[in-house]
Amino acid sequence: MDKRIFNKQIIIKNYSIENSITYDNDINKNFLYGKETKNFVKKITLNEKDKIIADIGSGTGYVFEILTKKYRKKEMNLFGIEPANGMLKIARKKIKDNRVKFVKGRFEKISLKNNSVDKIISTLALHWADSIDNGLKELKRIIKPNGSINILMIEKNDGKEFKKIVFKVMKKFLNHKQIFNAANLINRITKKELMFKFQKYFDLRNEYTLVIKNKRKKIYGTPEQHIKWWKARSFQMISEVKDKELFINTLKNELNKYKKKKGIVFDLSLLEINLLRK
Ligand SMILES: C[S@@+](CC[C@H](N)C(=O)[O-])C[C@H]1O[C@@H](n2cnc3c(N)ncnc32)[C@H](O)[C@@H]1O
Repeated sequence: MDKRIFNKQIIIKNYSIENSITYDNDINKNFLYGKETKNFVKKITLNEKDKIIADIGSGTGYVFEILTKKYRKKEMNLFGIEPANGMLKIARKKIKDNRVKFVKGRFEKISLKNNSVDKIISTLALHWADSIDNGLKELKRIIKPNGSINILMIEKNDGKEFKKIVFKVMKKFLNHKQIFNAANLINRITKKELMFKFQKYFDLRNEYTLVIKNKRKKIYGTPEQHIKWWKARSFQMISEVKDKELFINTLKNELNKYKKKKGIVFDLSLLEINLLRK
């Protein structure tokens, strides 16, 4: 089987089972990536013309939870596109708003018509796509000529120092090949590389304005906080570890060794992408 397809199945399987169990927990929602997601979505404004909105990789529905509350009376149709059944199930149960529909799909195959979407949103999902290029091609296909895009994703160096601790623990449980495969589950891209990719699919000279911001921050947390978000978002990294509980305890002990006065530091590096019609 093609390596990327195999990897894809691991990501989606994990988001269906292990990750979805812990995803909506308060620590994951309010700490680190969860907190950054909320801040990013709160900055998004919908115009009068924004009637059809799509959230790609919608997970348990963070984006629409915020938007439906902010725009209680606005007439609009919101489509959450998500490949993992576990995440879809939670989102459908949680958001009871008849403007919202959660549909199975993924970046590479979005189940929406050509030129049909006014605004595309995506938070912390594009780096999981099996190909960013194919994802962007699909966004170009579904966006209306006057549409706009708001994406939040991780940057190449996100968590570089923190992940060294994680890989140190992984080495105790997995061989080189398994670690290599785990590291390759995620697309790691710089701002410049992403700019080039957008340029391939969107006419930035004549039609669209693209702004990509690299947001860097140091986030301090307790081992418990870090373990919580890690379990919700990165469990697929240890799909080949036999004793997952032992792995988590070992990781917690290792993180404790790096604890400073303010806590354990995570070196966050995110890309905030905004594409607008000129
Ligand atoms: C970190 S979660 C983010 C979920 C949600 N957007 C949020 O901010 O809470 C990543 C999501 O991307 C989904 N995902 C994985 N591969 C994907 C793909 N190829 N296309 C779209 N979504 C994908 C996962 O199933 C998961 O729900």
